[in-house]
This record gives sequence, C-alpha cells and structure tokens, in this order.
Amino acid sequence: MSKGKFITIEGGEGSGKTTLIEALTKRLREAGHEVMATREPGGIPIAEAIRAIVLDRENTAMDARTEALLYAAARRQHLAEKVMPALQQGVTVLCDRFVDSSLAYQGYARGLGIDAVGEINRFATEGCEPDLTIYLDLEPEIGLKRIRANEAREVNRLDVEGLAFHRRVREGYLLVAERYPERIVKIDASEKAEAVAEKTWAFIAAKLA
Ligand code: TYD
Repeated sequence: MSKGKFITIEGGEGSGKTTLIEALTKRLREAGHEVMATREPGGIPIAEAIRAIVLDRENTAMDARTEALLYAAARRQHLAEKVMPALQQGVTVLCDRFVDSSLAYQGYARGLGIDAVGEINRFATEGCEPDLTIYLDLEPEIGLKRIRANEAREVNRLDVEGLAFHRRVREGYLLVAERYPERIVKIDASEKAEAVAEKTWAFIAAKLA
C-alpha cells in the first residue's frame, strides 16, 4: 500500500486552524480518502503530560531551550505512536501544528535560531516531513481579538505573551515559508472561513491527485 500524505496546518493564535481542519476533513472524506485529523499532542498520554508542563502558566521559570526540547519530545511521541503508523497504512494525516510551529515560536520569536531548533527537530522526526503545509497568515492583532472573543478557549502560557511576541511569531512563519516554498503554501487567513477552505482545498486536491 502506498504511504498516506502528511499535511500540516500552521498559523498564529486565532488564525482559524481548527475550523479549517474540520472543513478539510469533511471534504477529504467526501472525496473518498481515509483521513486522520490530529493535533500535537494528539491524545497520546506521554505527549499530553509533556505539553501540560510546557503550557502551564505557573511555569514562569521555563528556559527557552527547555521549552523547545519539550515540544520536540512531545512531537516525537505523537509522531511515533500515532502519525507514522497512520501514514504507513495509507491514511491522509491532517495535523494541527508541527515542526514549523517550533521554528516560528521557539526558533524565531524566542530567539533560539531557526537552524538550531530545526536541528533538534530533525533528530525528533527522523526525516518525517510534511508533504504539504498550509500556513494561515494573519495579523496578530486580528488573531488575538478573535481568540479573546472565544470564551470557551482556554488561555495558555503562550497566549498571554504580548503583541510584540506574536508579531515575531508571524515574522518567523513568513521567513520559514520563504525558506521552504516547495512545501509551504501561504493563505490569507483574514478572509471568511469558507474562502480560506476553498483556496486551501485546491492545493490539497493537487497534492493528492
Ligand atoms: P495549541 O495547543 O496547538 O493551541 P492553538 O494552536 O490553538 O494556539 O498550541 C499551544 C501553544 O503552543 C500555541 O501558543 C503555540 C505554541 N507552540 C509552540 O510554541 N511551539 C510548538 O512547537 C507548538 C506545537 C506549539
């Protein structure tokens, strides 16, 4: 059986990743594909435990390198336990955030360096790279306004960073997208959810054809 396609969805806070993944999952299933939608840490208990430490607002002493290593460790477990087996079985995997999140947040916004963070993630992923990455590009002012309007959403340690941090996250994503133009597609996330899904679908359909 041929390997499934690995598609990742990236973007800053409030960029609409969750809504997009729901729409794409539905469309892929309607088109006859077997789909697994997941998000790091993806319900894997070991990865969940690691992420609980990373995102705990009490952990104000967390060093930036520790943060990057913990994200990479949680990623590895989710990949080994859930993503790689699904891809092997020919399932299309849609994943909310992957290595590019670490490159933008820890590598660029936290200032650890995109190359340094890329290196620890290469160790973690053993060369398992997405076939396609959709980057939802949005001004952080708009994204933060959207998440503040959503009362059901829990506020984590990174959400409470200031606007300057989230601006750097966006700059980081734009640099990463420029670096990997053959893999990353940048989509304007300020448009309506239906328009974003429609544009994204064209790239996914081409990749699966
Ligand atoms: P997540 O739980 O995926 O929330 P959302 O995508 O809804 O914002 O991510 C939580 C936070 O973790 C988010 O602020 C982004 C951050 N993050 C990193 O800084 N590095 C990473 O490698 C990942 C996966 C997430």
